Amino acid sequence: MTIKNICCIGAGYVGGPTMTVIANKNPDVKVTVVDLNQARIDAWNDSDVNNIPIYEPGLSQLVENARNKNLFFSTDVDKAIDEADMIFISVNTPTKTYGKGRGMAADLKYIELCARQIARVATSDKIVVEKSTLPVRTAQALKAILDHTGNGVKFQILSNPEFLAEGTAVQDLLSPDRVLIGGEQSEEGKEAIQALVDVYARWVPLERILTTNVWSSELSKLTANAFLAQRVSSINAISELCEVTGADVDEVSRAIGMDSRIGPKFLKASVGFGGSCFQKDILNLVYIAKTYDLNEVADYWEQVIIMNDHQKSRFADNIVSTLYNTVSGKKIAFLGWAFKKDTNDTRESAAIYVADSLLHEQAEITVYDPKVTAEQIYADLDYLNSRSPEENRKYVKVVNDPYEACKSAHAIAVLTEWDEFKTYDWKKIYDSVIKPAFVFDGRSILNADQLSAIGFKYTAIGK
Ligand SMILES: NC(=O)c1ccc[n+]([C@@H]2O[C@H](COP(=O)([O-])OP(=O)(O)OC[C@H]3O[C@@H](n4cnc5c(N)ncnc54)[C@H](O)[C@@H]3O)[C@@H](O)[C@H]2O)c1
Repeated sequence: MTIKNICCIGAGYVGGPTMTVIANKNPDVKVTVVDLNQARIDAWNDSDVNNIPIYEPGLSQLVENARNKNLFFSTDVDKAIDEADMIFISVNTPTKTYGKGRGMAADLKYIELCARQIARVATSDKIVVEKSTLPVRTAQALKAILDHTGNGVKFQILSNPEFLAEGTAVQDLLSPDRVLIGGEQSEEGKEAIQALVDVYARWVPLERILTTNVWSSELSKLTANAFLAQRVSSINAISELCEVTGADVDEVSRAIGMDSRIGPKFLKASVGFGGSCFQKDILNLVYIAKTYDLNEVADYWEQVIIMNDHQKSRFADNIVSTLYNTVSGKKIAFLGWAFKKDTNDTRESAAIYVADSLLHEQAEITVYDPKVTAEQIYADLDYLNSRSPEENRKYVKVVNDPYEACKSAHAIAVLTEWDEFKTYDWKKIYDSVIKPAFVFDGRSILNADQLSAIGFKYTAIGK
């Protein structure tokens, strides 16, 4: 079976970049990305490709290459579903905020809505691909909905989890370590798997395309995120031990990372991991383990989250205690708000929680981030419901200039590892801040010797 027409439901951080690469590599396949969010679709269609809604290095160019040739962005979900032979579901699966499993289980209401919509609209056989990260055995629920409400149309469900990391999404998509495709092990299932393999095989070497059963594929995605987050929490746990013993976490990390059994990646100590996936996916794994009564398994993975929360709060506590146990009325400059560099995504960013702790202590915060809008920063703080939106706007200022952010600050906190922070004129910043001049480097990216020589009191994680 040759795929000629692809639809992707969800034009977010995964759907947008993934479909852009698929369209670029399959010029003979029509790819339509649909979303309910009109503003998001309008931004994807903006005549200036620099205004697309997601910032990823290299993405604008790829959108420009294919847009309105074989790549389309639209809000007409029904039409795109009807025309497609293959439908990717790439909608959000946030942690549930209500009812059973609240605060842990994945909220599958958007997935179910998609399934019902596909069932209602489809008039020909379709392959439905789970691109969103889903709890193991979700495909079963999808199939039940599709089979029982469809118009006699046949559906094959595949699981094709996305392993891209924000900030390097384009690179990760162009040369993935592996592509994982799970499907039913029947004749029809294997045909569907092959159809998707053919789409990827246009640019991914066959030995990097793994095919498995559906459940292994679904569980592999949660497992990958759990393992990655666990490494961050492990090195962060060691960072606190370094601070009290005189060891240096970067040295420990280097010594550990050179062990080929361990490897160097995801061993950088920091203020804590953020992003839309790690926390939600681990909580989801914990919840699944609990529903099978595997309490030790659940507790084991939950500790990764507990450690991460601790790392964020101890960073904020350290700022308060270093500033003579009070930050009330003091200006703290935040460099960075995104959960990591090279993305404008702020979901679960450590900066949000550090700011919230400091605001509880009556600090005044000025934020500079190269890619995050003021609107987003206030939305993140308002979402916590810790104080009124008016108070958030009164005590948090967002500026477009890092020097203005730092001017007259009692302390500077680095929350995101943006490269540009390293190249600032730190002498000029030193001259404009209140002395003693404190820098709390939550990402250990600044040059400690240079800053100390200028006169800063510089603190990094794990030193
Ligand atoms: N962000 C990442 O780095 C990443 C990486 C791998 C996997 N994932 C997974 O991919 C999935 C999507 O994540 P994301 O970051 O792209 O989310 P996102 O919130 O950026 O995008 C999801 C989009 O789906 C749209 N949507 C929701 N319901 C819809 C419906 N019924 N019809 C049409 N559109 C609908 C929303 O409007 C939104 O624009 C999640 O399951 C996530 O866990 C994310």
